[in-house]
Parts: sequence; structure tokens; C-alpha cells
Amino acid sequence: MKLNVYATPDSVSDKELKDKTAVIIDVLRATSTILAALANGCKEVIPAVEVEEVIAMSKNYEKDSFLLCGERNIQPVEGFHLSNSPLEYTEEQVSGKSLLMTTTNGTRAVRRAMDAKDVIICSLSNVDAVAEYLAEQEDDAAFICAGTDGQFSLDDIVTAGAVIHRLRDRVEHLDLGDLAVVSEYMYKQCADDLHKVIKHSLHYKRMMECGLADDIEYCLTLNAAPIVAVYKDGVIKKLDGVQA
Ligand code: MLT
Repeated sequence: MKLNVYATPDSVSDKELKDKTAVIIDVLRATSTILAALANGCKEVIPAVEVEEVIAMSKNYEKDSFLLCGERNIQPVEGFHLSNSPLEYTEEQVSGKSLLMTTTNGTRAVRRAMDAKDVIICSLSNVDAVAEYLAEQEDDAAFICAGTDGQFSLDDIVTAGAVIHRLRDRVEHLDLGDLAVVSEYMYKQCADDLHKVIKHSLHYKRMMECGLADDIEYCLTLNAAPIVAVYKDGVIKKLDGVQA
């Protein structure tokens, strides 16, 4: 199985995604939030790039069947029901709802991958479920890191490494691209305490400055939302019957 890691969504071409499973990572916080919402019973998550797009989409939904969700530059969007904190996405809030979501980098990365054979959502909160799924599918995988404002983000790379490391026990032959090698190495450096490395990332520091230590703690908790979530035809849904 060939595994490549891409530091940002713009560093992968459509050609490279063809016939591959795209694994989208924005551990702080978009993919952690999407997975928390799906694990807590939301119907679906519809990722959008722009705030205006979310508002336009909402016109197609019955009142009370949807929530407007997301952030801009970490801050809640005025008039939206929920921000991008995974801790807000409780069963009580999201059960049965369609979540129309836009985030600065994460939802953009999901949309970028729409030409891949298969697209799944990954965070530290579902690393074992993702590794299990990839091992079963046996397709080559492209890990697409959302990054921060077009820049490489350490937290996403460590997350890719956590999945790659778990694939070692599950797949006989792994063929790693250079950044996949670095990702696994970085993960192994901090497997006992993920904060040790991730605390040096720009986004971790920004979140700490914004008083979001509890969100970071959740996002760095392994297998907190042990599901597989698939993006297909513009919609992210939980794959039934798959739980790590
Ligand atoms: C994003 O999509 O840029 C992030 O998830 C930002 C955040 O922490 O809210």
C-alpha cells in the first residue's frame, strides 16, 4: 500500500488523488468537530467554503432541521448556531440535524479532495477506525493536511503519522513517501504525550491565546469519536457498523 502525505491541500494534484483514498486531516479543529458531531448522532455534515454559501444552502432546509456551524479565524461566525468547538457538538445539540459548516481551512480541504476515489475524515479522535478502514480497503492513500492559512501544520502531520504507525500492524507492505516517513517519525517522538510536539504548532499557540485549552485537550484525545466518516456527493456521513 502506497501512502503519501501532503502538507497542504494545494500541494496535491487531481491526478495524484485518482484511484486513491483521500484522508482529510484538520485535527485543530475542523475534522475533530465533524467527527464529534457524527459520533453524537447528527444526520450529516455539509462542508462549505464560504459563509455566504452556508447561508444560501440553509434556504433549502426545513426550519429546525439544520444548524449553521463553523468559524472564521478561530472565532464564531455571527448568527451561526455553533462555533467550531467539538465540545459544543453534544447529542442534545446535534442529534438528527443536518450541519451546514464552514471553517477557515478544514472544510476547504474536504472539498479539495472530491475527485479522489474515496474520501474519509481523520483526526486523532478516530485514528484506530481510520487505520482499520484503510487496511480493509487496501487502496493507496493520500493524507491531505488542511494546514493553517496555506502553511504546513505540525498537528496535522503528527496525526497522519499516528495512522501510518497503526497501519504497520495491519498491512504487510507499506510504501511511504518522504513526508509520510517524517510524519510517522514525528508521531513516534510524542506518542506518549502528544502535546510535547504539537504545542510548538502555530495553531495550538493561537488556540491557547484564545482560551481554548479544553478544545485542544479533546482534539488530542485518541479515539474519542471512534467512527469512520465518508465524504460523498457533497455530504459527510458516518459509515454504519464501523467502530474501532
Ligand atoms: C480551520 O478549519 O481552519 C480550523 O478548524 C480552525 C479552528 O480551530 O477553528
